[in-house]
Amino acid sequence: MKRGTTVYLYELAWILPSIAIPVGMLSALLVTAFGAGIHVPSTAGRVDPARLAETAPFDQPGVVQTGPLSYEVRLVSQIWSFTPNEIRVPVGSRVTFVGTSRDVIHGLFIPSANVNVMLIPGQISRVVARFDREGEFFFACHEYCGIAHHTMGGKVIVEPRS
Ligand code: CUA
Repeated sequence: MKRGTTVYLYELAWILPSIAIPVGMLSALLVTAFGAGIHVPSTAGRVDPARLAETAPFDQPGVVQTGPLSYEVRLVSQIWSFTPNEIRVPVGSRVTFVGTSRDVIHGLFIPSANVNVMLIPGQISRVVARFDREGEFFFACHEYCGIAHHTMGGKVIVEPRS
């Protein structure tokens, strides 16, 4: 093969993937967004992050019982804490976390309950978990949110049924 042809083939071998990869990624994004309906955290709604103190349910963060062994946690995140940061529920509870952020992007990660969701200012995230074992289960912010990100956490305390 002539030298010029070889160089041309090498160039082609670089150029084609560098076009194909972004086109493939864009196609995957479009298919998941419009075909599979995958979006940012959830379609649980939107909220004005500057008005959380006046907007239900975030005006009263905390744990509310919504039925037998059914609870809702209204969770507000801010640098660098969660409100509430201690959640108590009886064993066997089904807990719906309804969360958002007051300032920057945070996350809610409860490894023992398979909860992993972003908390985005302006966006409401909703995720459901079951707590079938007694004990203390740590949760943490898993989106880097500044200098004290690593201190941002809390715990779910699953108590014996009384
Ligand atoms: Cu909040 Cu990291």
